[in-house]
Amino acid sequence: MMSTPDALIGARAVVFDAYGTLLDVHSAVQRHAGSVGPDARSLSDTWRQKQLEYSWVLSLSGHYTAFWTLTERALDYALARHPNVDLSLRSALLEAYRRLDAYPEVPATLDGLRAQGLKTAILSNGDTAMLDIAVRSATLHVHLDAVLSVDAAGVFKTSSRAYDLPVERLGFDSREIVFVSSNRWDVAGAAAYGFVPVWVNRTHQPDEYPDLAPVKVIDTLGGLLSCFFGRDASTSKI
Ligand code: LAC
Repeated sequence: MMSTPDALIGARAVVFDAYGTLLDVHSAVQRHAGSVGPDARSLSDTWRQKQLEYSWVLSLSGHYTAFWTLTERALDYALARHPNVDLSLRSALLEAYRRLDAYPEVPATLDGLRAQGLKTAILSNGDTAMLDIAVRSATLHVHLDAVLSVDAAGVFKTSSRAYDLPVERLGFDSREIVFVSSNRWDVAGAAAYGFVPVWVNRTHQPDEYPDLAPVKVIDTLGGLLSCFFGRDASTSKI
C-alpha cells in the first residue's frame, strides 16, 4: 500500500488535464498508422509539439485562438515537415483527433475518486466545442462533475487566469484541489498556481522544472487511487 502524501489528505476535488492525461493524443495517428507509414510517430510528435507551442506563444503575446484551430495549423505544419505522408489523410486525422481514445483506466479512476466524495473535473486548453465532442465520444461526461475549457478565460495554461477557472467553479481553495497532468509543463503551472500537483509520467520522461515539483509521480491514473486510498482502480469496487 502506497502512503498518502500530506498534501493529498485535505483534497476535495481532483482536476485533470484532458489531452495526453485522460485522452491519448497519439491515438489519432495510431488509428491511421498503416496509411501514414513509417513517419507516423514523428508526425504525431510534431503535431502535438507545435499545437502546444502555438498555445504558449499566443498566450505570451496576449492573443487567443481556439485550440481546435491551433490543432489544424499544427497538423498542417507536421504534414509539411513529413512530405512522405499522404496529404489526403488530413481530414481523417483531424476526425480521429476529435474522438481520441481515453486511457483504459480513466473511467474506474474517476468513479473511484467520486466514491470517496471527491469532485472530478477537467481543465483543458481544448475549446468548449472540441472538448464537448471529445469527452462525450469517450463517454467521460458521466464520470465528471465539471468540464472546463480555458475558452472562458481567453488564455491558455499556464496562465493563472486559466487555473482560476476550477477554483471559481468548484468553490474550493487551490490547496484543496489536486491537479493531475501528464504534461510536466502543466504540472509546473499547477504547482506555481498553488494546486496540489500530481504528475502522470506514463513514458518515464526525465524530470524538469525543479522549482515547481509535483507532490507525487505516478505511472498511470490507477496509481492515483493507490496513493489516495491504497487501492488500485482495476480492483476497487465501485
Ligand atoms: C489540455 C492539453 C494542453 O489542456 O493537454 O488538455
